[in-house]
Amino acid sequence: MVGQESNTPVLRFMVDVMGYIPGIGEHSLTVSILSYFISYEFFDDESRALYGGIAGALHDVGYLVPKVSQMSKEIDVLYDENMIKKLSDLHTTIGGFILSNFLGLYEYSDVAFYHHLPADQLDIMNPNHIFANIVSAADLLSVRFEKFGSDIPKNFAKGVLEENKDQFFPEVFNAALKVVDRDYTWWSIEDPTDFYMRNLSMRIGKSEIIDESILMELGYFMAYIVDSKSPFTRKHSERIADISKEIGREMGLSSKDQMYLYIAGLFHDSGKLAIETSILEKPGILTKKEYGHMRKHVFYTIKFLEHFSMEENDWTKWASQHHERIDGSGYPLRLKGEEISLQSRILQVADVFVALTEDRPYRSPMSFEETLKFLLEEVKKGKMDAEVLKSLERLVKNGYTFPSKTPISEMIETVDFLIKYYGGIS
Ligand SMILES: [Fe+2]
Ligand SMILES: [Fe+2]
Ligand SMILES: [Fe+2]
Repeated sequence: MVGQESNTPVLRFMVDVMGYIPGIGEHSLTVSILSYFISYEFFDDESRALYGGIAGALHDVGYLVPKVSQMSKEIDVLYDENMIKKLSDLHTTIGGFILSNFLGLYEYSDVAFYHHLPADQLDIMNPNHIFANIVSAADLLSVRFEKFGSDIPKNFAKGVLEENKDQFFPEVFNAALKVVDRDYTWWSIEDPTDFYMRNLSMRIGKSEIIDESILMELGYFMAYIVDSKSPFTRKHSERIADISKEIGREMGLSSKDQMYLYIAGLFHDSGKLAIETSILEKPGILTKKEYGHMRKHVFYTIKFLEHFSMEENDWTKWASQHHERIDGSGYPLRLKGEEISLQSRILQVADVFVALTEDRPYRSPMSFEETLKFLLEEVKKGKMDAEVLKSLERLVKNGYTFPSKTPISEMIETVDFLIKYYGGIS
């Protein structure tokens, strides 16, 4: 039931990431814990309880798509029944679609897809429908819990369930009733991070090797979600992935290294998911304080990627060191000289090259030539690697262009279509 062994780091990563996302992190963790307890009560089985916990953490993944979260903010201001219905269809459809696209996550797509359906539209013979119904009960309780603060009376929680009894399979209802009657449940929720670290994260599994194709798909997922936060960066990570791989090839690195450079590029800004959207989306130059906060994204990239860290070929370091500089002036570790591997140096050059050639609200994109000139100054100051830059110059001279039709551009198209179809917004 629980993902195959090789998928466990992927799940731990996803559960971890979900908990940090501003706006839905706390809700995701609360639902995760409640689903874990209710699943345990229902199945009397540890691995199914874990499955429920993971499904609970992932159930609202559809909200990661900016247009969907934007719609939910609008509803907060302007309450509209029709729009609420649309949002419900939209985030479940998109969440289900996103999860179904990725090896290692697809087994949770049904839960995302069905978690707002009442029991009479579900099939009790289908385990995924049972989990969807369990998550639905946890979701309802979590929403009420957030509204009334941590001092929730057990009787109040029971009342909430009673009121909505016909939404649930009787067995799910009874399991949920038992769970909310325990102090242990509510005290666990008071500190979800602690509970989650002790009871979910640690038990999902440790240091398994992950299939490269799974990593690649998850990388596309992260790149899509992170980069679509701002219309100016929609192709940012994918371009860095591509050019890093090309520089690696130009410098004679092995094909395995080239592939991991690509993967590192896809993941390098993952930590931006933990940064407030208002900062990521800000259409102008950031204030000093906002910039300070923005810099912290690499700290989260390190934390998230710890789940994938490997002994040899540690691509997670290449991904999270893209703001370090050879003269020690970078962040977050202030690494210097030899402490920075060639692959990390490639990512550093690639990140600046792509960022400067992208459009920004406060400046127009630089040409390849201008950007190379800028990078040469950085090399002269001792910040960037001269050999890496030479390889990039050769690539540009030989007519390098960024890729156009890609897995991410296809994902953007499909999600945009779903938003139009279910959300009625263009
Ligand atoms: Fe939901
Ligand atoms: Fe970055
Ligand atoms: Fe970046």
